[in-house]
Amino acid sequence: MAEAPDRNLALELVRVTEVAAIAAARHQGRGDKESVDQAAVDAMRQVLSTIDMDGVVVIGEGEKDEAPMLYNGEIVGNGDPPLVDVAVDPVDGTRLTARGMPGALAVIALAPRGTMYAPGKLVYMDKIAVGPATAGMIDIEAPVVHNLQQVAKAKDKPISDVTAIILDRPRNEPYVQAVREAGARIALIGDGDISGSIATAKADSGVDILFGIGGSPEAVTSACALAALNGEIQAKLWPRDDSERVFAAEEGLDLEQVLTTRDLVDSDNTFFAATGVTTGELLEGVRFGSHNVHTHSLVLRSKTGTVRFINAIHSVDQLRDLSAFEI
Ligand code: FBP
Repeated sequence: MAEAPDRNLALELVRVTEVAAIAAARHQGRGDKESVDQAAVDAMRQVLSTIDMDGVVVIGEGEKDEAPMLYNGEIVGNGDPPLVDVAVDPVDGTRLTARGMPGALAVIALAPRGTMYAPGKLVYMDKIAVGPATAGMIDIEAPVVHNLQQVAKAKDKPISDVTAIILDRPRNEPYVQAVREAGARIALIGDGDISGSIATAKADSGVDILFGIGGSPEAVTSACALAALNGEIQAKLWPRDDSERVFAAEEGLDLEQVLTTRDLVDSDNTFFAATGVTTGELLEGVRFGSHNVHTHSLVLRSKTGTVRFINAIHSVDQLRDLSAFEI
């Protein structure tokens, strides 16, 4: 029997990413990454506490950055059901924001309790991500050229028209070389591979496939979004050194395992919200008017598959009177 529509938590979560994005954007271009993060975390935490949910942060940002976290294990929400795992990235692209560069997002994702993969201290994963046209056709263990050919086949275009998005890091240079040799195009990004992963599933983004080693938290968060967009992500833990290899062995984390979208988040009911901080492939950034602030957000839920882009105009004067923090 068909179920009655139930609550879409992502529609409430977008308030969380909107305030985080606005708070972060106020620090755009000041060159201070920490203050970007701190402002976003403070704003996010305040609105999170008003959401009807019993959440535990499974994916926070603290392990790598020692950021002013929403830390792993922190309890969020007002304590009412549902019981959920929470992935937060108050700003994916703190450096981008601090430098006033494109592609930073405020992000949150939710899934039922116990369903998100916890990478612990292993802060990096090797990743490949695609949108719905190529889902089911990629293989992280196959050569880059094979995956590019699969995209070309799925999208019915020559490989020379396929664009791979890659995080610009020395460790990703082999990917850059392989994509060049295959004759495909490259979009290098300085930061922000959540936006990069999701852009592969947005029809007009101009980006077809993501390759490269980036953050583990970002892989789990991207999986929550790609599950809702019928895209696909595959990832493998990428230890930086022997101490991380030892940690993986002690924790029973298999370094050879190909983690599928389903391994990263084992649920058909994921929720995802993101708001643009600075304009990028996926979303427009925060724009400040005379007495208002414009935000652009993406809201997803995998159970229904509904994709919402939300343009919001926030009245600075009214919100200042109503809320404890400055919009
Ligand atoms: P933060 O802005 O949250 O620090 O992350 C930015 C980011 O570029 C992620 O998108 C990416 O997954 C990760 O950092 C890569 O890590 P690193 O900068 O250490 O290479």
